[in-house]
Amino acid sequence: MGVPALIVAAGSGQRLGAGGPKALVELGGRPLYAWSVDAFRRADHIDRIYVTVPPGLADRFTEAGIVTVDGGETRSHSVANGLAAIADADDDPGMIVVHDAARPLVSPALIDAAVIGLDSDPELHALIAGSPMTDTVKRLGGDGVVIETLDRSELVSVQTPQVFRTEILRRAMDAGDLAAATDDASLVELAGGSVGVIESPSGNIKVTVPGDLDLAALLLERDR
Ligand code: C5P
Repeated sequence: MGVPALIVAAGSGQRLGAGGPKALVELGGRPLYAWSVDAFRRADHIDRIYVTVPPGLADRFTEAGIVTVDGGETRSHSVANGLAAIADADDDPGMIVVHDAARPLVSPALIDAAVIGLDSDPELHALIAGSPMTDTVKRLGGDGVVIETLDRSELVSVQTPQVFRTEILRRAMDAGDLAAATDDASLVELAGGSVGVIESPSGNIKVTVPGDLDLAALLLERDR
């Protein structure tokens, strides 16, 4: 079984402050997005790799064998553009994996486990990477004062990769508020879909601020 992957890499990288798109920032001698492309190439259950890129910059995404698609205004708009490109290419075996280029340490094993996990559970519409919460989480009121402490045993911190039944994701995105969504699974949940969680290793960090880039470089060095 092989499914398409959509790596979203069209963000501006403002919070990283690198003066350009985050996906092109250098990490361990390669652009950040190339590490995710590499992991998806090494996964057994991925056929083709689509990458959303900042409009006008496709020629700077030179990894071999990828299909570039212009990104949109927000992350979800970029995912919608990627889904449209996959439909145009008649490339839909029924499932799709969505991944943030901002998570360069994703492993081929996690990608494959998520694809197999969704394929083998007909009750689920999506299967997403997540980790148990290690911090205590509190909910604040508008005045910044704590209203309550949430029960950590019921919480997970979610990440990408996220694997979807393509048609369910497409319908959820058509009906949902793309500008407000911080991940794709939330749109599927709001549309009544059933979303499972697969445990992700702690190294699947997201590069957002400069310190994250230093940590990613250390983890890459450790695992090399
Ligand atoms: O901004 P944030 O780090 O949450 O973005 C998550 C991922 O979504 C990044 O890999 C980024 O490149 C991508 N993105 C996108 N199109 C946008 C905004 C973000 O593909 N308009």
